[in-house]
Order: sequence, then C-alpha cells, then structure tokens
Amino acid sequence: MDIKKLIKTAKEASARSYSPYSKYKVGAALLTKDGTIYTGTNIENASFPAGMCAERIALFDAIKNGDTQFEALAIYAEGYNFPFPCGICRQVISEFTRDIKIIIAKSEDEYVVKNISELLPDIFEFSV
Ligand code: THU
Repeated sequence: MDIKKLIKTAKEASARSYSPYSKYKVGAALLTKDGTIYTGTNIENASFPAGMCAERIALFDAIKNGDTQFEALAIYAEGYNFPFPCGICRQVISEFTRDIKIIIAKSEDEYVVKNISELLPDIFEFSV
C-alpha cells in the first residue's frame, strides 16, 4: 500500500470541497482490499445539518458499488491540527472493516496512522 499516493489522492479530493461556511476543506481516499480507490470531500449546505463529511461520502460510494472490504482510508485537511474523523464517521468506518488503517494527514508529509479500535474503543454493535 502506497501511503503517500493515498494521501495525495485525498488532498486532490479536498480541493473539490464545497465548504463556504466552515472554509475547512477535507478530502478522503478509501482503498479497498482489491485495490480500488474511492474518494470523498465534505459538502456543506446553508441548512448546516444537511452537509456531509468527506469520509462518509467515500465510504457510501464504495458500499453503493458493492465494495465493503477496506485496506486504508486517508483523510486530508490542511490546518494546525490533524484532521481526526468525527465520531459519526468513526462509527460508520467500524461497520465494515475492523483492520482498516486510518491515515490522518495535515500535509503530504505530516500524518499519523491509527486503527479503528484506537479511535473508537468499545465499538457499538446492534444486537437484540
Ligand atoms: N468534516 C469532515 O469532512 N470530516 C470529519 O470527520 C469532520 C468534519 C467536515 C464537515 C464540515 O464540512 C467541516 O468539516 C467542518 O466541520
């Protein structure tokens, strides 16, 4: 797996962000176990809750195409802090692949790699 290439792809996706309200441009690049890359970017709306995070757009695109097994997810946003995924995105990531590598990048050279159990311990699972 080429981490640098995945970060670059996420960076390219972040350039297509629609974020006139926060001005925070997030890009996501999701690598499946069979090598396909899906991308996402955050899309905001005048009605704020109608917006969507970059990660979930990439994940839902993959799932809608029948891909549910993931190798890695790069999240890219330039800024002072590393762009850790929000809580809802952590839950959505956990639904599919527990051994996914989550690469959190604030530039092409500054990134951290986490797994989902570090970001979301004691994962909720629905059972009755
Ligand atoms: N955002 C993401 O795209 N992913 C996250 O995990 C956290 C937040 C977006 C949503 C909104 O457009 C902007 O960042 C500020 O919250």
